[in-house]
Amino acid sequence: MQDDFDRLLDRRGTGALKWDRRTPEEKRRGIVPLSVADMEFPCARPIQEAVRRAAEHGLYGYTDPDERYFDAVTGWLLRRHGMRVRSEDIVCENGVIPALSTALRALTREGEGVICFTPVYYPFAQVITLNNRRMAECPLLRSADGRYEMDFNRLEDLARRQDVTALILCSPHNPVGRVWTREELTQVVDICRRHGVLMLSDEIHFDIVLEGEHTVLARAGEGAADRCVLLTSPSKTFNLAGLRIANLIIQNPDLRASYKRQQEADGNSNIAYFGRAAAIAAYEECAPWVDALCGYLRGNFSWMEAFFSQRLPGAVLTRTEGTYFAWADFSAWGMDDAALSRFLRERAGLVLDDGTMFGAGGSGCARFNIALPRQELKKALDRLDAAVKGASL
Ligand SMILES: Cc1ncc(COP(=O)(O)O)c(C=O)c1O
Repeated sequence: MQDDFDRLLDRRGTGALKWDRRTPEEKRRGIVPLSVADMEFPCARPIQEAVRRAAEHGLYGYTDPDERYFDAVTGWLLRRHGMRVRSEDIVCENGVIPALSTALRALTREGEGVICFTPVYYPFAQVITLNNRRMAECPLLRSADGRYEMDFNRLEDLARRQDVTALILCSPHNPVGRVWTREELTQVVDICRRHGVLMLSDEIHFDIVLEGEHTVLARAGEGAADRCVLLTSPSKTFNLAGLRIANLIIQNPDLRASYKRQQEADGNSNIAYFGRAAAIAAYEECAPWVDALCGYLRGNFSWMEAFFSQRLPGAVLTRTEGTYFAWADFSAWGMDDAALSRFLRERAGLVLDDGTMFGAGGSGCARFNIALPRQELKKALDRLDAAVKGASL
């Protein structure tokens, strides 16, 4: 497996979004992007074989989640997350972001406020505002060593407002890489339940844990499952984003019925043929691959952490506990956001996600996708080191 993680696949000509969005100059230089959230690792062999078998069948008709599919999903949730789920609690979707959009329309009203801990994965703000809801920002607090924490006082202030009715939680948190502790999540549940705030918990990264232990929000406190929509997908864990498959766990029957009504209104009721085949193979056969992946990512992050402390004075790298992102703060270098973005992209030849994309708290920061062969990560950071020396910061 190590060999698979160390080998860079050529994705040119596959429509790969992350690669195609590079500038012509970056393409000419063969710059490996560290941006959009998929991994530069081939899928595990059992998944490749399942997709190949599905392709060989030759008929790719409308597909329903069947017993085999539900068994695979419920088996994974039980074995990896200690969560017992019934098939009827699962609602299938073709992506977590489309599902969040449907959930907002089904379970909140126009004009209502939706709490997010910021900086956060930027499509949250888009689905909230484009569905005519309001973003209620709860900025994360940051200690001097770069660790982010929730501001429970602010959360409570927002939750108690009549016009604030939902929270979108990102757990583990993209981009700052926190794996929220059970204690933190229990407080979130307590506050939300006390004020009748619905919890939409995006746990798409829940298998990618480098440090600590992930707790599913629905299991974090008394009555949590009843006020919670859990959004999961095999797409991040197994690198299947292009197969468009996601699963919601909605244990409260009224919430589930409302969600399904909106899903029907959206004309969205089947699952992806290839996604089904891949998800079954992933959940049934690929647990060892996920363990190896987390080990490899841990190695990448440790290497990067050492590099930052030895070679990039002033830059603060937040410890990644979960996800395959590293979040770095360059504000000590004294550049404004536009200058920092230009410096990282044009001088250092790095294709990253600028911190400002993730909301106000992202100023001075950038997100690195570290799910790529270590050699490629090293090449990218060597370019940054050289640019810093050239600019004599
Ligand atoms: C927190 C989070 N949620 C959702 C998504 C996207 O999910 P999907 O492609 O299933 O819509 C991502 C992708 O980066 C993500 O990081």
